[in-house]
Amino acid sequence: MDTLEAIFTRRSTRKLRKDPVPHGLVEKILEAGRVAPCGGNSQTTHFIVIENQQILEALAGIVCQAFAGMGVKKDTYKSLRKSIIASKRGDYVFHYGAPVLVVTANKTGYGNAMADSACALENMMIAANALDLGSCYINQLHWLTDNDTVRGCMEDLGLTEDEFITGGMILGYPDTADGKPLRDKKDITGNPVTWIS
Ligand SMILES: Cc1cc2nc3c(=O)[nH]c(=O)nc-3n(C[C@H](O)[C@H](O)[C@H](O)COP(=O)(O)O)c2cc1C
Repeated sequence: MDTLEAIFTRRSTRKLRKDPVPHGLVEKILEAGRVAPCGGNSQTTHFIVIENQQILEALAGIVCQAFAGMGVKKDTYKSLRKSIIASKRGDYVFHYGAPVLVVTANKTGYGNAMADSACALENMMIAANALDLGSCYINQLHWLTDNDTVRGCMEDLGLTEDEFITGGMILGYPDTADGKPLRDKKDITGNPVTWIS
């Protein structure tokens, strides 16, 4: 698959098989994230790669508990609202049971923190598609970066005191009929372009 095809066919794949992804493939995808552009070439995005299933299960429980303790207001962002409501039911698994979760973090107070991490995540999702792996951006840990329990758990996993969680993504073999990542054509109904010719 060439670069443009990998970009144009990338879609979020949330149904992933439990089978582990060979470490070499995960490493290749991480390399794609680490070469992404970043402000001033600062290279401060920190990638925390969780392949341990017990830790992934424990983290899902901690996240579910954290959201269950939150209230929903009229202006609560719709995806956050969904996470809170599902967590109050007690069955919320923010990473969809994927075998790999990559969490991105960056320096607190660094102005390009979110942009740098988003570039890295997009590179990794495109690389995953090129390698026939499914992926999806996962933002719950970013929303919970100030939650003491979540933060404590992430610090045990390598997050440093001067970092905050910027985002994340899941990775795995697609649980689809043809075993390939979702690649449905996407209708562009937004993202307006203003041309000044
Ligand atoms: C900043 C950002 C945050 C996102 N957070 C989540 C998330 O937490 N969980 C999820 O399932 N999808 C998440 N997504 C995926 C979007 O829902 C998805 O990209 C969008 O619906 C378009 O679908 P596509 O990726 O298949 O093109 C996120 C995407 C972005 C860019």
